[in-house]
Amino acid sequence: MKLFSLGPREIHSFERLADFAAEFRPSAKDLVISIHPIYDRYVAKHAADSPHLLLDDYGSQEPTDEMIDAVLDDARRTPFERIIAIGGGAVMDVAKVVAVAGDSSIDDLIDHIADHHRTVGLVLIPTTCGTGSETTEIAAINRTRLGSKAGISSPEMFADHAVLIPELLEGLPDHVFATSSMDALVHSVESVLSPNATPYTRMFGYAAMRMIVTGYREITFAGPEGSKERRAKRNELLRDFLIASNYAGISFDIGGCAAVHALSYQLGGKYHVPHGESNYAMFTGVLRNYMEIKSDGEIAVLNSYLAGILGCDVADVYDRLEALINRLLPKKALHEYGVTRQDLPIFAHRVITTQQRLMRNCFVPLDEARVLKIFSELY
Ligand SMILES: [Fe+2]
Repeated sequence: MKLFSLGPREIHSFERLADFAAEFRPSAKDLVISIHPIYDRYVAKHAADSPHLLLDDYGSQEPTDEMIDAVLDDARRTPFERIIAIGGGAVMDVAKVVAVAGDSSIDDLIDHIADHHRTVGLVLIPTTCGTGSETTEIAAINRTRLGSKAGISSPEMFADHAVLIPELLEGLPDHVFATSSMDALVHSVESVLSPNATPYTRMFGYAAMRMIVTGYREITFAGPEGSKERRAKRNELLRDFLIASNYAGISFDIGGCAAVHALSYQLGGKYHVPHGESNYAMFTGVLRNYMEIKSDGEIAVLNSYLAGILGCDVADVYDRLEALINRLLPKKALHEYGVTRQDLPIFAHRVITTQQRLMRNCFVPLDEARVLKIFSELY
């Protein structure tokens, strides 16, 4: 049983992108992968000599097989020795694929991932505080040609350097900050409850949780929604949130995500709800059902840990946690996203038939009837 491995060779933090550029010296031998808003605002002036590919020129933010093949065609026209990816999960995931694909198409790569070795350097710089992609070996791809989503993973897709730069998150809209940090919180909770968690991964998972929940308290106490005080406090804490997202990525790279993600993909896929928000819609509904089945073991440890941070009774922990998160990201019932009663059994069946990769990481096994019960309670 593998207890722990840290994927990226090194993790760095710089206050500003200028400090990163002074140390890593982007040159004509680097391929920059980013998106227009980030490239124009931050990157262009520090990597003027580096060729670049901007993902939003190829389609929407979620990487599809067709987008990736177009990116691979363009990347092959430019010789490069290192990739510097600066963006959210989609940008970093595409960069991992470009780094290992060689002459293969995305379909060939997925079918023969074990034969592919990375021959170029890989630097991953997140511009949100949720996915933890900079520290994992996984890329999520929407295989539109097959009508399914795939997670592709290989140790060759670990970065050489994960680089955390708070400056790049200063302009994040409040909603994007809330949904992405919520995703990291769910990564930490799901991964500590997973049967695959180890004492090493739990150390990172619980530390991530403490940083995020404490950070949410400080931000919401600083001032009302939309106030200058709240934004200033948030920006002061960005480095903590980046580290927390990174810790959560380290925790789930071995522990894995579970039912919250498996259920969330149904809502996100059909009704285009942002990933962190659809996770939040499922979050405590899944935890309460775990508790109905088994209220001792790691979930009891988790609940008393969270109650300690929130300063509440263990019995009230999910209510208090939701009350806090609602001040940043109001929880909605599923019908408010357009979900119909007819969707619920279809969603439940799909969770069981297509999401076993995640469902096997649940704290306790959940069958189709239980998954339908959770969806119905959240409806
Ligand atoms: Fe996630």
